[in-house]
Amino acid sequence: MIPMRLSINIDHVATLRNARGGNHPDPVEAAEAVLGAGADGITVHLREDRRHIRDHDVERLRARLSAPLNLEMAATEEMVAIAERLRPSDCCLVPEKRAELTTEGGLDVLRAGPFLGEALGRLVAAGIKASVFVEADPAQIEACARLGAKAIELHTGAYADAAPADRPALLARLAEGARVAVAAGLECHAGHGLAYDTIGGIAALPEVTEVSIGHFLVGQAVFEGLPEAVRRMKWLIAASRGLG
Ligand code: PXP
Repeated sequence: MIPMRLSINIDHVATLRNARGGNHPDPVEAAEAVLGAGADGITVHLREDRRHIRDHDVERLRARLSAPLNLEMAATEEMVAIAERLRPSDCCLVPEKRAELTTEGGLDVLRAGPFLGEALGRLVAAGIKASVFVEADPAQIEACARLGAKAIELHTGAYADAAPADRPALLARLAEGARVAVAAGLECHAGHGLAYDTIGGIAALPEVTEVSIGHFLVGQAVFEGLPEAVRRMKWLIAASRGLG
């Protein structure tokens, strides 16, 4: 099986920094630490309310890192203009609600207005690998391909949050979504809520070539340090893909 890339979402390093209003812990330093521990890329979500990552963070990450940078953002004129200016390697379009604690569901591509196709077209024209965060619903996934996305990110939140007994059925649905994505010519990524005990099922899906993990690893850093948590997650991924 081909290796799976691990992109580390460092939003909550910024959450911690913002709690005291200073510069510590610095998300850019965290990015350098996780890349040093073997992570394959960095993900940040620039939310409309800038509750964690701020514009300056994205600018500094873009200037300082040579590793892939995945900018998660809402499909809005403001965000597309930022992406066109900063040109991260990847952009993942996500639904965004002001009151939510985290991204709650996949983007409803079938009901989205015309701006979604325009946003994807502009991102691709800027040389960015444009993806969409979606549920494992074949109709949604195929619509992403029709609108010009290059990749999708499957929402793994329901699988990750489910009781162990309920996970096989949810994993089967994600596996089917991954097959539909590849058949539609899309790269298939996955993420949300993943932890040591749930990564194995996702990493065993051959079509999924990248996962994005944030909250669990930043939380785990309290106990074992961020580089060690990343190394352990990388090891679990490799073992599930028969590459350990
Ligand atoms: N993928 C997307 C689209 C997300 O919005 C998030 C959360 O910001 C993640 C992945 C990472 O989820 P978690 O922080 O639960 O690992």
